[in-house]
Amino acid sequence: MQNFTYKNPTEILFGKGMISGIAERIPKEKGVLFLYGGGSIRKNGVYEQVRVALKGHRFTEFSGIEPNPLYETCLRAVEIVKKEKIGFILAVGGGSVLDAAKFIAAAACFQQSDAWAILREHGANVKDALPIGTVLTLPATGSEANGNAVISRKATQEKLPFYSPRVFPQFSVLDPETTFSLPLKQVRNGIVDAFVHVMEQYMTYPVQAPLQDRMAESVLQTLIEVAPVTLKKPKDYAARATFMWSATMALNTLIGCGVPQDWSSHMIAHELTAFYGLDHAETLAIVLPGVWQYKLTAKKKKLEQYGKRIWGVKTAKEAILKTEAFFHSLKMPTRFGDYQIAVNEAAGKVRERFSERDSVFGEHKDITPDAAAKILASRA
Ligand SMILES: [Fe+2]
Repeated sequence: MQNFTYKNPTEILFGKGMISGIAERIPKEKGVLFLYGGGSIRKNGVYEQVRVALKGHRFTEFSGIEPNPLYETCLRAVEIVKKEKIGFILAVGGGSVLDAAKFIAAAACFQQSDAWAILREHGANVKDALPIGTVLTLPATGSEANGNAVISRKATQEKLPFYSPRVFPQFSVLDPETTFSLPLKQVRNGIVDAFVHVMEQYMTYPVQAPLQDRMAESVLQTLIEVAPVTLKKPKDYAARATFMWSATMALNTLIGCGVPQDWSSHMIAHELTAFYGLDHAETLAIVLPGVWQYKLTAKKKKLEQYGKRIWGVKTAKEAILKTEAFFHSLKMPTRFGDYQIAVNEAAGKVRERFSERDSVFGEHKDITPDAAAKILASRA
């Protein structure tokens, strides 16, 4: 097992009716920015519940955070934070709203004039941030209990992640009932995103960390088991609760302790979203099997372990096929052809982007720009 430090300061309020708990957790003297997305929270009752909970607080609403939250939109929110002397950010929505909240919280305290530097340096230059609380309405990203965020910049077609321990939410409310009205496509996307988050921390090489392996496998197994149920019965509380908690456990940093991590699928997938506008999970489902196939020898031991324990198959290749079949069972395509995207063009664009940034990824730092292009070229 590798050395690690572990600290997760986020308090989780899990279950129906828990939104009311936010009031006592936000200091009364702080002005609150109530941040949300396109208005789905106005239809599912969450907006009203939050307003009721905030009735003793001074708050300002900011809506219109888009999927793949834009830097440009976040900067408008930062201006309001400064003008209104906001001291606390309450993000209500899915991972995009939560990620935007993290960037706004950091950018509002950032001393340099160019806030994009936060993304360029992946958060290493974040010295301070406003406190954040969240009400999660879409299980997927794990953003409710980690210090990660991904922000897109429209002007340059870039999509970059940052991490800072200063942007972990102070609390996150996870009420499965808030997810009952989600479109099935978003649920499918959430299942795949959470599944791939586990894989980025698991599908590398063995380091004698059997507990982390089995915790990761238990999240995978639970997702596989609950996926068809929660897609078929959106209002089944038990299934939604299981899915919601699984997505949090997939990326609250626990299963990644002391093990090598990959993340090349995410980094390549971000570029595809930036260039082609595909949903985050859609790009992951294309890229992940390609990364595994490309790294078949280096990942063989873990692929075999996963195949045997999760799917009851013997070989690494069978494990990859089973994974693709699982995605297909959720009606999630896994090839560029499903989106009429020219594979060589995509491979070329991503190679160029990574070359410009001198990027290399993966647990062995060998996913070079050329490797990324080869991986994409294999996914026609
Ligand atoms: Fe993700």
